[in-house]
Amino acid sequence: MRAPTSGEFYERWATVYDRVARLPGLRSWRGGAVDALDLAPGDTVVEMGVGTGANVPELRERVGPGGRVVGLDITAEMLRTARRHPERTGAGVDYLRADATRPPVRRVDAVLGAFVAGIFPDPAAAVDAWCDCVVPGGRVALLNFQRSDAVLGAPLNLAFEGFVRLSSPGTRLSGGSHADAFEARVAAARRRLTERTVDRRYETFGGGYLGLVSGTVPDDTG
Ligand SMILES: C[S@@+](CC[C@H](N)C(=O)[O-])C[C@H]1O[C@@H](n2cnc3c(N)ncnc32)[C@H](O)[C@@H]1O
Repeated sequence: MRAPTSGEFYERWATVYDRVARLPGLRSWRGGAVDALDLAPGDTVVEMGVGTGANVPELRERVGPGGRVVGLDITAEMLRTARRHPERTGAGVDYLRADATRPPVRRVDAVLGAFVAGIFPDPAAAVDAWCDCVVPGGRVALLNFQRSDAVLGAPLNLAFEGFVRLSSPGTRLSGGSHADAFEARVAAARRRLTERTVDRRYETFGGGYLGLVSGTVPDDTG
């Protein structure tokens, strides 16, 4: 039987994903990712692969009533689920069904990619596209799960393999584990962000199981 593609998976599991995405433990990590964007009132921020909009209330709070949050996702059911939550909709919030690897946005102040870079076939190209749509001085942040060498590493790393199979279907390289393929994609995204930005920060959360890399898009005249 053919494995579901990422799009088919999220179309089917949007409601379940939404429950997991809102687990209380994830809130502070999501807050860390939003902090890394250094948003100011009035900014426009785009979340690529916004899913069910779990980060939107925090993004909205940072940009304030004069700012704008654009949640972009390729899966209609994820966006429908996001729109069902009053705190994730309303003035200043727009959802857009589009491919985050070719985002139809320009000159925004910041881009967030949370739990999405490991899904793309060419993550470096996606990060290039994201940096291209951010104004000089604006920030891009990538939040991703990763394996950890913490004491409880071995059993949790097994769980990580299972998690990657579920959350990033269709991404395995032939022969290797899902986790290897996933981490290779996340590493490619982080490398490209490192090449494209200055003032980079790297933080980890959750015993090392979440990594947050962020950077500022430089002024290309400088
Ligand atoms: C693991 S979820 C992350 C959702 C959200 N960022 C969060 O923090 O909960 C990954 C999301 O990426 C979306 N996605 C996958 N490929 C995409 C693409 N090429 N363009 C836009 N969205 C995509 C999926 O539909 C899904 O909603």
